[in-house]
Amino acid sequence: MSKFWKLAIASVVSAVLIAGYSLRAEKRSEKTATLNSFDRTIIHNSKQMVDDGRQIFRFDTFGDESFWGGTLQLHKAIAGARLGGVGPGLSPATAAALGLKIDVDALPPSLVSAVKAGQVNLNDPAITVALLKLNAVVGVTGLFDGDGKLQSLGLQCALCHSRVDNSVTAPGIPAGVIGHRLDGWSNQDLNVGQIVALSPNLQPVADVLGTDVPTVKKVLNSWGPGKFDAELFLDGKAFRPDGKSAATLIPPAFGLAGVNLHTWTGAWGTVTYWNALVANLEMHGKGTFFDPRLDNAKQFPIAAANHLGHVKNDPDLITSKLPALHFYQLAIPAPKPPKGSFNEEAAKRGDELFSGKAQCTTCHTEPIWSEPGWNLHKGSEVCIDNFEANRAPDHRYRTTPLNGLWTHMKRGFYHDGRFPTLLDVVNHYDSCFNLGLSSGEKTDLVEYLKSLPSEEESDTSGIQ
Ligand code: HEC
Ligand code: HEC
Repeated sequence: MSKFWKLAIASVVSAVLIAGYSLRAEKRSEKTATLNSFDRTIIHNSKQMVDDGRQIFRFDTFGDESFWGGTLQLHKAIAGARLGGVGPGLSPATAAALGLKIDVDALPPSLVSAVKAGQVNLNDPAITVALLKLNAVVGVTGLFDGDGKLQSLGLQCALCHSRVDNSVTAPGIPAGVIGHRLDGWSNQDLNVGQIVALSPNLQPVADVLGTDVPTVKKVLNSWGPGKFDAELFLDGKAFRPDGKSAATLIPPAFGLAGVNLHTWTGAWGTVTYWNALVANLEMHGKGTFFDPRLDNAKQFPIAAANHLGHVKNDPDLITSKLPALHFYQLAIPAPKPPKGSFNEEAAKRGDELFSGKAQCTTCHTEPIWSEPGWNLHKGSEVCIDNFEANRAPDHRYRTTPLNGLWTHMKRGFYHDGRFPTLLDVVNHYDSCFNLGLSSGEKTDLVEYLKSLPSEEESDTSGIQ
């Protein structure tokens, strides 16, 4: 046999062998792809958890109506005197100005048409009550008696951590007020403080905080849109040393899977820790909550005096909901920015800078953009004060995950929104770390920040 034929035969044989081998490999992967019955149980469970979690996140009040309706009587201010409440009532126009959102999928088509045609009186509080009856106000549930009278009112997670898209616009109604729900997107328009300040009975809040009602109102009105102060009822600190409000931005509740510690100051704990704290201590639902760190009267005088680290209710309306709520939260991906919302070429250059000259990946680790592990830092490490950090158990700030920054550009960045734009953030780092970035490099970094989560990340995490 000539050398040529020997070689030819050898290569045919090896090709056949390789083909055979890869066929076997294919079979093996087919075999692992065949799910056994416990695998199917897992898949069924995950679907059930997401469905239950969505329901809880959107609609569960955890029994908190006993506080918002029962104690504060907030529903009476919404209904107004004409409908059995007090005062002028809350018109749809004012509700929209306070950042409340309407779920278009809860409205009958005839009402949507009337709204679009400008035939609905946006100054009539009766319309707000009708919307509550339809369960169409995102994050707010009205409770009605047999005669259809608004009797009480409860709040949900979705109030602060959902908004709606801008699918419905109508005369007098700006885009983003009526639309389809976007769970996990922080409500940057919501003025929680002003809404709570409408309550006819703020005396119990003043009592807990050891102050008077005018002071409570002053504090609530100091928060502004897109902010809330989750630590106020633990430490009673309403203002920073510079006199500005101590409230923090409402963060997104998406893109949190793989991130260890949560909230701006992190040290509170995991997503499920925070869910339990919020449902019990902030929303005033009825559950069980344990955290002896809150017995530290020096750091948390209000919490310690009110034993907030030792909450027990019977029945417990919260604990059984934590698993699905946790699961749902972790399942919400950070949304991809719309095409054209950033400069792709500049973002590519910004990507290089982010992990290179700008040293951002020292802390913001791809693709979760926080540190795997104990993701906390002292204020001095990022050249800021420790006021907010000192309101949390570990006196630190958490490295913020950066996916989906483009969804919350309205109220500034960092925990209190102190940097109005992403360029301000980059300028801050430039001087903090002496990076020596040129103005072009700074805008490249900004375009990169606007582009997150990037295409590849979205693909590997299955986000479409
Ligand atoms: C009144 C508005 C409001 C409501 C209602 C609310 N939150 Fe929040 N949420 C906030 C604010 C503000 C923070 C930041 C707190 C901080 O850092 O001090 C936060 C933080 C979080 C975080 C941490 C996000 C991150 O970046 O790590 C999660 C998760 C969360 N909330 C989930 C929930 C769930 C679940 C509910 C319902 C049980 C809920 N929230 C109800 C305002 C709210
Ligand atoms: C030493 C660790 C560290 C480094 C390095 C770092 N960051 Fe941060 N980053 C943080 C911490 C901590 C916060 C939260 C600060 C706060 O909330 O007050 C943060 C917050 C941010 C935010 C605000 C997110 C939001 O939702 O408000 C942006 C944007 C950001 N960083 C971008 C960058 C960029 C760009 C770089 C590189 C130039 C960088 N970071 C370098 C730790 C770091």
